[in-house]
Amino acid sequence: MASDDGETETEDLTDPIKEIPGFDETESRIAVLGHPIHAMSVAFPVALTFCIFGADVLYWWTGDPFWARAAMWAAGTGFLFGMLAGFSGTAELLLVSGIRVRAAAWTHFIIAVTLISLLGANWGHRLYGYESAVLPYGILLSGLCVIVVAFTGWHGGKLVFDYRLGTSKSN
Ligand code: HEM
Repeated sequence: MASDDGETETEDLTDPIKEIPGFDETESRIAVLGHPIHAMSVAFPVALTFCIFGADVLYWWTGDPFWARAAMWAAGTGFLFGMLAGFSGTAELLLVSGIRVRAAAWTHFIIAVTLISLLGANWGHRLYGYESAVLPYGILLSGLCVIVVAFTGWHGGKLVFDYRLGTSKSN
């Protein structure tokens, strides 16, 4: 702002979000000996989501019912492990003030819940006939799950590596 004598005054600009109490408290609380449970548990739904798609492609290619059954099991276990990862992530989101105040953490929550819902739908779709379920809707759902899990994992990594959420403050 220019003052009467023509000189420019510097204003102290503050970020109102950074003023929120607990903004800097970002360490993981849902952890075993300092190792965040969420980070440890996400590997399972991520890997199983790729397994569903892989098994669907192999069923389409070979026609072997083994792959259709494998896809059904991968979808069921992927969904259940996704729920477990979701519980630890949600507890972290709600309990840690520095995570709760950041919009990016809520964005991750929305993408992740979309993924878990798609995994549940993918599993339910196969429960009443796992072979007939694969083509076309099973494999289409699996392809969509792969796209959404890629976004979820990438965005989760962003929370850790860019925003340093869920990490410990080393001395
Ligand atoms: C549904 C509720 C979820 C919430 C609220 C949530 C929240 C979070 C939070 C707060 C972090 C930062 C690290 C931490 O505090 O532990 C994180 C990291 C991460 N999340 Fe989630 N998450 C959810 C579900 C998922 C799911 C279903 C997946 C994957 C299938 C996932 C993948 C990741 C990954 C890959 C990281 C980075 C871990 C690392 O590199 O250490 N999240 N999530």
